Amino acid sequence: MKFFADTAELDDIRDLAATGLLDGVTTNPSLIAKSGRDFMEVTREICAIVDGPVSAEVVALDHATMMKEAEVLRRIADNVCIKVPLTVDGLKTCKALTDDGTMVNVTLCFSANQALLAAKAGATFVSPFVGRHDDNGMDGMDLIRDIRLIYDNYAFETEILVASVRHVVHVLESARIGADVMTAPPKVIHALFNHVLTDKGIDGFLKDWASTGQSIL
Ligand code: E4P
Repeated sequence: MKFFADTAELDDIRDLAATGLLDGVTTNPSLIAKSGRDFMEVTREICAIVDGPVSAEVVALDHATMMKEAEVLRRIADNVCIKVPLTVDGLKTCKALTDDGTMVNVTLCFSANQALLAAKAGATFVSPFVGRHDDNGMDGMDLIRDIRLIYDNYAFETEILVASVRHVVHVLESARIGADVMTAPPKVIHALFNHVLTDKGIDGFLKDWASTGQSIL
């Protein structure tokens, strides 16, 4: 499963990229606003840090203007992935861009039928929002299971990008189901490394090692 960071904070992206485990980045207009940075500038800087796809979202609602915005965004770098909302105009834009060889991430997916439409429109990625689904009394992971089943039934190549990830159990369940990608805030990715028994084990080994009086170097 690929790991994307869901953030526009450059320090966090550099930090995660240094682990060698970061496969891409997703941003959205809210994350850009939170960063306080210029959209084009920060997207260019993220694309220079990460080799994999960097999602940059259009804000127009109509197909013609989405295409114009996508044209500007895709000139930023070769690894820009154009993010479009799951609407009729968004999917028209998705089809036009993917037919032309541009990566597209269809975002704000909340049903398996919507994911089916995104795959038929040739999306590179579909982003079902599991956390927001949970917030509304539904099980977000059920949505991922349904999409996996449907995509496998028809051998769709669209990658399931689990979004709106809030905690490590979302990551675990995504991997169990066989999602292709998950995007999470940096703090959730960092939490994946932690286990109290790992820390306790290191303490014990170091204590016993010190008692030997030896050194490796
Ligand atoms: C996905 O690409 C979105 O940027 C993101 O995962 C939304 O997450 P949120 O529901 O925590 O805002």
